[in-house]
Amino acid sequence: MSDDSMVEEFDTYATWTADAVDELGDAHALPAACRGSGSPAVLDWLADRMGLGRGARLVDSGAGVGGPAQYVAERLGVRPTLAEPMPGACRAAARLFGHRVVVADGAALPFPDASFETAWSLGVLCTVEDKVRHLAELARVVEPGGAVGLLVFVRTVDRLPEQPDGNSFPDAVELETEVRRAGLDVVARAWAGDLPTAPDSWDRAVAEVEDVIERDHRGEAGFDTARRQSAQIGGLIADGLVAGRLVVGRRPGRP
Ligand SMILES: C[S@@+](CC[C@H](N)C(=O)[O-])C[C@H]1O[C@@H](n2cnc3c(N)ncnc32)[C@H](O)[C@@H]1O
Repeated sequence: MSDDSMVEEFDTYATWTADAVDELGDAHALPAACRGSGSPAVLDWLADRMGLGRGARLVDSGAGVGGPAQYVAERLGVRPTLAEPMPGACRAAARLFGHRVVVADGAALPFPDASFETAWSLGVLCTVEDKVRHLAELARVVEPGGAVGLLVFVRTVDRLPEQPDGNSFPDAVELETEVRRAGLDVVARAWAGDLPTAPDSWDRAVAEVEDVIERDHRGEAGFDTARRQSAQIGGLIADGLVAGRLVVGRRPGRP
């Protein structure tokens, strides 16, 4: 992705999201901040297959505005640390949820080896070129035996009619090959589309946040870029050409 469109989609838009939540109220924070990763059912599936439980230390690489991390913190008592390259998204996550956040590229996480019980990276891999490196960093920072959860948008066809700027979608087989090349065993997999969709109240809250952002920022360059990117990816998903794939890998060895 060009640096400018990446900043507009993931940095500027994150700040606008936090501003809209300030206006609409805290009940909007979680749905709005999970915009990149979809439904509670996806997060429940991952949390279950990864064995996330109270007190577990989780690193969220490419955490965005921090909604998924907050979801498992609230629901399960997980202790997340967020890593995210966009400073505006980091500030938004800290502002909305008070998370511990570091500005970092997933290809070079600033954590010692084996310093977390688990890690996940949701909706990120299709935006990075060197996927094995990103995955190998997740494998490095979890303990032996630790789980690594992924939500990855994958291609379901050989060739896409259009490729949204900066995205490179693997297919489901390539994804698992990359996970294994990064040193992880694949222990669970599913299609996000086979899980329940988000409740209406969740979708309504997201739509209200989007309306406030549109009211305040329509016509600004960042607004048009972010909306165009998300419409393109939404169209590919609606046409069945791209789909959300969930994979859980495990670092070999015993904790
Ligand atoms: C679609 S959003 C998903 C955000 C969040 N994980 C979620 O599910 O709500 C993709 C995120 O990946 C981040 N990202 C892009 N390149 C990255 C990289 N090289 N390392 C880590 N994160 C990256 C973006 O800044 C953005 O926050």
